[in-house]
Amino acid sequence: MKKLIAGNWKMNGTLESGVGLASSINAAVNENSALLDACDFLICPPFVFLQSAKAAIGPAVALGGQDCSPFDNGAYTGDISAPMLKDMGAGYVILGHSERRQYYKETDALIAEKAKKAHDAGLIAIVCVGETEGERDTGQEQEIVGSQLLRSLPDTTTAENTVIAYEPVWAIGTGKTASADDIRDMHAFIREKLDNNGDFRILYGGSVKPGNAAEIFAIPNVDGALIGGASLKTEDFLGIAQAA
Ligand code: 13P
Repeated sequence: MKKLIAGNWKMNGTLESGVGLASSINAAVNENSALLDACDFLICPPFVFLQSAKAAIGPAVALGGQDCSPFDNGAYTGDISAPMLKDMGAGYVILGHSERRQYYKETDALIAEKAKKAHDAGLIAIVCVGETEGERDTGQEQEIVGSQLLRSLPDTTTAENTVIAYEPVWAIGTGKTASADDIRDMHAFIREKLDNNGDFRILYGGSVKPGNAAEIFAIPNVDGALIGGASLKTEDFLGIAQAA
């Protein structure tokens, strides 16, 4: 399976910097056929830059949203629906990121509703799971991730329409990464929870950088990375792909 190199831009940049980043990633990816053989590429800009980013990339780089509404259309001020993302040319949507779980109190049940809408719209849902530092310190990481998987995945979930991203909350934006042993154990656990379905892509996320990516990609059941900070620089994003 090709590694999925996915950039979550979060709430960063301007129209100008976002378009510049999208086009430089697109150019760099297309210059290197070995990279295209080994990796699939995805960028997830803020909603308002989606259309311009789409115009700046070609078929080698996929586009995704960072969230979607649990509704298709109607009086839901501020929401963006899965069909709207599809209409903008998105193929993916990140759902249940720990920042949304934490700051907007998103529950597993809400994430499952959003994932169902994403599936119905023909989008691939990247469903994020991960434990907090306190939960890991008390040995609850598998219980927490197991329960998030069970409750955040709707019954429309298949290996074709869903990617799982394991992002330990304490590793996001902190420069700390989980140890290779911890990643191996958790990715094996997630694979087992998905009925040992080897076709599901399972990404690791949390302070992935060019310097640690090779070690992370060598771990069994790591099928790519969901990258925050390092996805905002073409050189770092491509450096991570090179490690694959
Ligand atoms: P960082 O790579 O900045 O730690 O962010 C990871 C992340 O949250 C990707 O969704």
